[in-house]
Amino acid sequence: MQKNKKLYIETYGCQMNFSDSEIVASIMAESNFTITEYSKEVDVILINTCSIRDNAEQRVWKRLRELKSLKKKQPNLQIGIIGCMAERFKEAMLEMQPEVDFIAGPDAYRSLPELITASVAGQQSANVMLSEEETYDDIQPVRLHSNGVSAFISIMRGCENFCAYCVVPFTRGKERSRNPQTIVQEAVELFKNGYREITLLGQNVNSYNWKNNDGTVIHFPQLISMIAAIDHQLRVRFTTSHPKDLSNNLIQAIVQHQNICSAIHLAVQSGSNRILEKMNRKYTREYFLERIQAIRTAIPECAITTDIIAGFCDETEQDHQDTLNLMREVRFDSAFMFKYSERSGTIAAQKFDDNVPEEVKSRRLKEIIALQQELSLQSNKNDIGKVVEVLIEGNARKSAEQLMGRDSRNKVVVFESKELEKGDYADVRIVRCTSATLIGQVFA
Ligand code: SAH
Ligand code: SF4
Ligand code: F3S
Repeated sequence: MQKNKKLYIETYGCQMNFSDSEIVASIMAESNFTITEYSKEVDVILINTCSIRDNAEQRVWKRLRELKSLKKKQPNLQIGIIGCMAERFKEAMLEMQPEVDFIAGPDAYRSLPELITASVAGQQSANVMLSEEETYDDIQPVRLHSNGVSAFISIMRGCENFCAYCVVPFTRGKERSRNPQTIVQEAVELFKNGYREITLLGQNVNSYNWKNNDGTVIHFPQLISMIAAIDHQLRVRFTTSHPKDLSNNLIQAIVQHQNICSAIHLAVQSGSNRILEKMNRKYTREYFLERIQAIRTAIPECAITTDIIAGFCDETEQDHQDTLNLMREVRFDSAFMFKYSERSGTIAAQKFDDNVPEEVKSRRLKEIIALQQELSLQSNKNDIGKVVEVLIEGNARKSAEQLMGRDSRNKVVVFESKELEKGDYADVRIVRCTSATLIGQVFA
């Protein structure tokens, strides 16, 4: 029997990466590794990386410079790069960064134990093969990032949408859905272990598509209904949705199941048809607004959040104004907002000029953020006086006497209670707010 080794995993990027780290932890635990916090005793450090924007990669390069000096002091330490940067740079990563011992792409995590064995024997090693089948559906994730109340389940991998700016189709490969039986089983297990909220994950969860042996197909609305049927005390969320796949059937599933949360993250990226077309988003501003209308009509209380990119190639002042006026029209509850960052290999990098000057990108992003801040504050102010159902996740960060949780719309709610605890549901009346948080009192 091999000596038990200590492994530390550091994760960057999206929720899918965090979920992957939990799969990696499971694979490594099977191979006699103990997953630990960082300490001087760790034998292996894995960095699960993100390539989505240049600043995401810069953080990892900086971290590698720190690890290089650590390795001088601990020559036996093994450093592995996994995830999207491993896939993007492939073997070149090992040449550029001699202190990296091994790399593994997102579909190659089952080979990590062998890669580590090879690197311990003194050889840099790599597996960056992408797969058309791998979904890791037989692996029970080790919950690393969990509060014991909410957990993530990856239901599909990859993306084939090829939005012009985006690196994900290159780092994550072909879209494939996971066997629904294993998803339901994982959810049932989590519920038994006290979890009360599950978020179904995928780069476009709504295009989930599983073919049964008898030729019938399970689409996302059916899958989420199966999860919702496990128990009415189990909340179900999903992220993220591509506007083209947000169907009326899904909206109906949310209406029909009280425990499917009223929160939809629907990335718009831009409010200008010219830019949407250039981005290869495959919908128009009018189509997007129609989907918003369909959501609002069926689920009036639904929170709608989004992603926006400022300063994509050829974006004019008018295009930017179109984004701002779309934001005002939709009144998003919150948003993730980014400056366009060119990624080599993408369609945009090959075909278009990254021609919006840096200071213009910054100014437009600032305007977008300022507007969203107003909209978020207004959205929260509209909640004052309302009673919302909160699933308690733990103590609030700022005060040990306060609890924090989220309502169905995924809004963060903070309130005081001596009796209630993590995992309980509470009806809370909202009395105050900031643009990011609702503050309330238990409603007796
Ligand atoms: N699959 C998800 C998005 C995943 S990436 C979806 O389509 O909704 C998360 C967000 O990062 C994207 O929605 C986009 O707003 C942003 N993003 C992706 N590539 C980017 C780039 N090259 N520059 C800036 N932002 C980018
Ligand atoms: Fe990227 Fe578009 Fe796929 Fe989202 S849908 S991951 S933005 S290519
Ligand atoms: Fe980043 Fe890869 Fe996720 S590029 S956003 S970690 S899929």
